[in-house]
Amino acid sequence: MSTIESVVQETRVFPPSEETVKKATISGMAAYEALCKEAEQDYAGYWARLAREHVTWKTPFTKSLDESEAPFYKWFPDGTLNVSYNCLDRQVEAGKGDKVALIFEADDGKVTKVTYKDLLARTAKFANALRAQGIKKGDRVLIYLAMSVEGVVAMQACARIGAIHSVVFGGFSAKSLEERILDAGAVAVITADEQCRGGKNIPLKPAVDEALNLAVGHNVKTVFVVKRTGGACNMVAGRDVWYHDIVAGQSETCEPEWVDAEHPLFLLYTSGSTGKPKGVQHSSGGYLLHAILTNKWTFDLKDDDVFWCTADIGWVTGHTYITYGPLACGATEIVFESVPTYPDAGRFWKMIQDHKVSVFYTAPTAIRSLIKANEGNPATHPRNYDLKSLRILGSVGEPINPEAWMWYYNNVGGGRCPILDTFWQTETGGHMITPLPGVTPLVPGSCTLPFPGIQATIVDETGHELEWGKGGFLVVKKPWPSMIRTIWGDADRFKKSYFPADFQGKLYLAGDGAMRDAKTGYFTIMGRIDDVLNVSGHRMGTMEIESALVANPLVAEAAVVGRPDDLTGEAICAFVVLKQSRPSDEDAKKIAKELRDWVGKEIGPIAKPKDIRFGENLPKTRSGKIMRRLLRALAKGEEITQDVSTLENPHILDQLKQNA
Ligand code: WT7
Repeated sequence: MSTIESVVQETRVFPPSEETVKKATISGMAAYEALCKEAEQDYAGYWARLAREHVTWKTPFTKSLDESEAPFYKWFPDGTLNVSYNCLDRQVEAGKGDKVALIFEADDGKVTKVTYKDLLARTAKFANALRAQGIKKGDRVLIYLAMSVEGVVAMQACARIGAIHSVVFGGFSAKSLEERILDAGAVAVITADEQCRGGKNIPLKPAVDEALNLAVGHNVKTVFVVKRTGGACNMVAGRDVWYHDIVAGQSETCEPEWVDAEHPLFLLYTSGSTGKPKGVQHSSGGYLLHAILTNKWTFDLKDDDVFWCTADIGWVTGHTYITYGPLACGATEIVFESVPTYPDAGRFWKMIQDHKVSVFYTAPTAIRSLIKANEGNPATHPRNYDLKSLRILGSVGEPINPEAWMWYYNNVGGGRCPILDTFWQTETGGHMITPLPGVTPLVPGSCTLPFPGIQATIVDETGHELEWGKGGFLVVKKPWPSMIRTIWGDADRFKKSYFPADFQGKLYLAGDGAMRDAKTGYFTIMGRIDDVLNVSGHRMGTMEIESALVANPLVAEAAVVGRPDDLTGEAICAFVVLKQSRPSDEDAKKIAKELRDWVGKEIGPIAKPKDIRFGENLPKTRSGKIMRRLLRALAKGEEITQDVSTLENPHILDQLKQNA
């Protein structure tokens, strides 16, 4: 696993090749520095210039930034636009109607190509269908769909009519769905009968039914159901409609709803340091601008590129780098339904070869699992495939350890392709700190330098900037267009979480620790400073998992911490005290399984603790505070060297060393 030391000691540097520099839109360090300087001198003017150049406005804005209610910033407030128009109509009007927008590859390998003209027609039809059901601007629509053309269409259709979508990852449980339906006050849900993954059909619709039964007082009037497999599917009369029925007969044109730049485009729920997930609210104009710019500058997207981001639309990466950014740039992109290991661990490489993918964006956890799988089965090693079409690689979601970086660089990129280690968050809308292909010499394990215009730095607990070489809190000094606008329904939590009073309410607090290299100023992310874990690039709140565990009738008390894991980055380790006496052996295994399944039902399978350890109690101070630092050491398997004499109950440490 990557450690901060291994990154700090990293001496390998990979400058961009001459060819890449020549081709790149932002070409050379001087060009990068000029942009940074422009933004430093006048950030509002800098972003306004770019917003005029890259976004098509219905009504051009006259005011770049309204800071009067900071930190509730308003970008381009008097401009109007439509995001779906910018993604689809704009391409068709520019003569790209017959260009392939989406290459959809299904679980079983079946390929469907959708042109810009088709995608616009499909979006218009579904947008009309939404309107026909009474859904209008500002309404919240929950989307619970797997990777599919319909998933992209559903999001685009919401954007077209000004409805605010909230996509919930298909791996979340009915209970999680219920919470989000209620919190967002959704009026409709878009789902499918089943999803196909790894050769299996997995039901989706029953979770929606269960969620709506649980959600007392919900506002959902319509459930749209895409028929993916034709498997058994319960339809509730008067509420549920088949997607194919409802779009049939709809017109292929649909006048977009022109909305203010600040109109919310979507909510996306993510974990924080309390038990309740937060609905991150994004805008239309500012968000779209950054989606476009980062695709053009970080990925250097050009007209002849084939782009593939392997994320799911249930995460922010799938929003910015599948549904919105690449389409707004008129690119051809892959939408992949399945998993990297089906039918074997060569799937990614085969698809890159088949579709001549040139820009490939994936997560370190996928790379690590494929390294491992390829060791077991050399036939699926990337060397067996023709990957010459690749020119740019990306990484996202968690730190990429230098070993995985080198493997990705040599074996997938053939030593030719820059790896862009992009640091960002659900809240930031798009890349924040990242190399640019034609600019930045790469150092494995470092996300290098801020995206032009992002004024990131590192401060101490009082908000004072630290010199390079010192670790501290990662912050952003100035607002930027794609930043989170608020937490849905909880403006106070928004302020407290991201613009805390400790920093005079002026700095955006990312929630990560970071440090800058003493010589180069390159950033290295050291991980979350709050109680948030990163498991396979998925963000999980420890409090959320703890709440789920203690909701089980068997459990008296629970504490959850992360520990390093070679494959998933971090693994979830739960320390549990039962109401009954401490179980041993078989009994412990049985209850551990029961608790894992319980968490799977409460939150989703991704939240299941890998380790469960039972104790008669948890290590506490005499005032009753759980000593999480000790638990983290226990989870890692470290010898406890610190003084535990102040502990109320030192003997339970031995119990908590054992995994059930
Ligand atoms: C957290 C955000 C960005 C979209 C996917 C995750 C971690 C993200 C990196 C990176 C080191 C990273 C941070 C961040 N993270 N990218 N390149 N290097 N850490 O979005 O679920 O909102 O999670 O993921 O800890 O705060 P998210």
